[in-house]
Amino acid sequence: PLIRLEDYRPSAFLIDRVNLDIVLDPHATRITADLALRPNPAGAPDGPLHLDGDDLTLVGLDLDGAPVPGADYAVDASGLTLHRPPRRPFMLRVVTEVDPTANTKLMGLYRTDGVYCTQCEADGFRRITYFLDRPDVMAVYTTRIEARREEAPVLLGNGNPVEAGPVGEDRHYAVWHDPHPKPAYLFAVVGGRLGKVEAPFRTMEGRDVTCAVYVEPGREDRAGYALDAVIRSMQWDERAFGRAYDLDVFNVVAVSAFNMGAMENKGLNIFNDKYVLAVPETATDADYANIEAIIAHEYFHNWSGNRVTCRDWFQLCLKEGLTVFRDQEFSSDMRSRPVHRIGEVRSLRARQFPEDAGPLRHPVRPNAYAEINNFYTATVYDKGAEIVRMLRTLIGPAAFRAGMDRYFADNDGRAATVEDFLAAFATVTGRDLSAFARWYERPGTPRLSAQGAYDAAARRYTLHLAQALPTEGPPLVIPVALGLVGAGGPLDGATCASAADGVFILDRIEAELVFENVTEEPVPSLLRDFSAPVRLDLALSDAQRLRLLARDSDPFNRWQAAQDVALRLILAPDAARTDAFAEALGTFLDGEALADPAFAALVLALPTEAEAADALSGDIDPDAIHRARHALRAHLGRALAPRLTRIDAALAPAEGASYSPDAASAGRRALRNAALDLMAAGDPQAGAALATRRLDAATNMTDRLAALATIAQIPGEAREAALASFGERYAHEPLVLDKWFALQATIPEEGTLARIAALKGHPAFAMTNPNRVRALIGSFSMGNPTQFARADGSGFALVADTVKALDSANPQIAARLLTAFGSWRRLEKNRRQAAAEMLNGIKAVPGLSRDVADILVRTLKDG
Ligand code: ARG
Ligand code: ZN
Repeated sequence: PLIRLEDYRPSAFLIDRVNLDIVLDPHATRITADLALRPNPAGAPDGPLHLDGDDLTLVGLDLDGAPVPGADYAVDASGLTLHRPPRRPFMLRVVTEVDPTANTKLMGLYRTDGVYCTQCEADGFRRITYFLDRPDVMAVYTTRIEARREEAPVLLGNGNPVEAGPVGEDRHYAVWHDPHPKPAYLFAVVGGRLGKVEAPFRTMEGRDVTCAVYVEPGREDRAGYALDAVIRSMQWDERAFGRAYDLDVFNVVAVSAFNMGAMENKGLNIFNDKYVLAVPETATDADYANIEAIIAHEYFHNWSGNRVTCRDWFQLCLKEGLTVFRDQEFSSDMRSRPVHRIGEVRSLRARQFPEDAGPLRHPVRPNAYAEINNFYTATVYDKGAEIVRMLRTLIGPAAFRAGMDRYFADNDGRAATVEDFLAAFATVTGRDLSAFARWYERPGTPRLSAQGAYDAAARRYTLHLAQALPTEGPPLVIPVALGLVGAGGPLDGATCASAADGVFILDRIEAELVFENVTEEPVPSLLRDFSAPVRLDLALSDAQRLRLLARDSDPFNRWQAAQDVALRLILAPDAARTDAFAEALGTFLDGEALADPAFAALVLALPTEAEAADALSGDIDPDAIHRARHALRAHLGRALAPRLTRIDAALAPAEGASYSPDAASAGRRALRNAALDLMAAGDPQAGAALATRRLDAATNMTDRLAALATIAQIPGEAREAALASFGERYAHEPLVLDKWFALQATIPEEGTLARIAALKGHPAFAMTNPNRVRALIGSFSMGNPTQFARADGSGFALVADTVKALDSANPQIAARLLTAFGSWRRLEKNRRQAAAEMLNGIKAVPGLSRDVADILVRTLKDG
């Protein structure tokens, strides 16, 4: 049964206030909900009242203080129906009971390591009480939580704490009040034994806020970086968007079993502990960067998501795309902007482009869904963020900021739509944004093709641009940031009337740009800073691309040029051209590696095997791609060896230097470790020896894991010894073992399947913890293309079996794992057949969850 955007109707009833009394118990938690209901003036006037409910035991039902007679209501698997609800405001008391310990879906109220916590987005609140569980029903919540003091000394809710005290001998309670009306998906409670770190923040409006991060007791020393990121996020949102925090407390809680990264519950963000806990001994530079970004993301939701929420789940990108854009801007301000931009685009291409090219493709704002939890996708999040970025490019930063102010002002306290968002920008600019809005509707990645011609006599360069989309329809509005680059650098004297500020807006199928005063034959630098999420077809020679690497002013396109050359060499190996590439990289490294190590590390990172596969339209043979990429790396490693050795020496940390997670220090580590890895590709024996020394000398997890990753690629005793000793050293650090699981799961060798089978029996592995499953099985399916897509089908079988084993316990995680099959139709025939067999094998399982069935049906159709 599909839910469709066009079928949206306002709710027949509204709920203005919710008073909850939650008595926590491991197996029988009792929830008393007093709901102040009234007919919605904007809703349909009659009919029954259906409250959503899932997996609940109904204990009591009173209307205005009197029990509701059995004949007046009915309960089924989807909820509770009052046959003849009053046509006036009334109070409904609903008493339910749930078993948080048995809740393996990790939606609603559940326990993880003995801590009670909740996850209500998208539709988990109905697993706590019967409710109008839709985001356009917004209420003011007061929550009383009661528990055994020993079991849950800490009791947290949304909003501000208003009251707390003992209940009898060994119990206690706390009351929380959230004055800001919110949808049920932002509700949260936490109860448990937790340690905390806290810090004060005074908002620009003068409000004193206590910020706290709660973690497993004894882990408080690992919470400091997250707490600091909270404070920096609050400061930044005031400065960049004029948004101040609006409660007296802001709490973050880290839990170990969590289906996703984190959740923006009002005043009480709940996090996967992977995105909170960090000390140099256990967390890598990438972990620190993720923690900073995700803390910011969830905090920024306070305005883009909470104060202004979504009318319905089709509008998910309204909060997610916008909030990703905001967290990207934050990280860019905290770190190196160009380096961060390259990282954003790499992840867009790794996750969103394949999605947009396969059977799971959907518009950034979908029109229909069977299971909304399957639409928390790279398309909604990351392409959604790219649309916001294009909007800013289109109207300029000042108008963009004015439009954001307008959006917040007009929609504060409302459940809004994408149209409301665009209307704010149309109002402040006076522009018609209806053509731009097509980005939300049209699935698939557009192709932008470009062809240039130089007329030396007229000193004129003509550039022909054309766009093509996979689906029929009118053209998109594509901002193309561009410039011309001569042998000595950008041709600043060239002028183009239609791109005066360096951006051409392609809003037709094709267009011709004329540059005057072009003094030499240029190389065009197109889509600077990746100004639009499109695939660029531009036929340039290696030499022309390498000019961009050496001379372009746009760092993104410098990096892109090296990627393009490398990608071609993977798809069509050529020794002479590889030599020329190596020489250009050598010159680049000599000139600037030490000036900007983070950027240089990215230039050295070749396109992944998945990216190479994504460049092919079909008949993909992952083994061939792997061999070609490996050979290119080996060739470059040998050719660049003296330089890499010099870089390695120059970037060695000073004796006794202490670790700092800042971007500059991380960049030095990144380049040094990239150099190590490339050296090892060129000379595996020497590389293994050097990596082993580096492993022993490492003083932080970034360097230790990088060295281990290099060793893991080189078969032999040294590898097995290194893996074993790492596993022992961190036997009691699950988040570190996740890295160890992932590293072993991505070894591109036949023996990996047996390794994974063995690791499933590791004492720290548990199918009930999503982080463990993602680390071992998810990394295999997404990060080991040769073994996952083995022609004998055994790699597919491993993942399919995990999907089947997990489906009834945790359908969300099972469905997410299954998306690894998204590109199966583009594989060569044998692999394609093996994948189809596996998918049909899952299909044959009776009683599949809606989550898995939905992904399966979409993956199999679309032939
Ligand atoms: N809103 C959360 C975030 O992006 C993620 C929630 C994901 N929920 C889900 N059901 N998959 O910040
Ligand atoms: Zn989000």
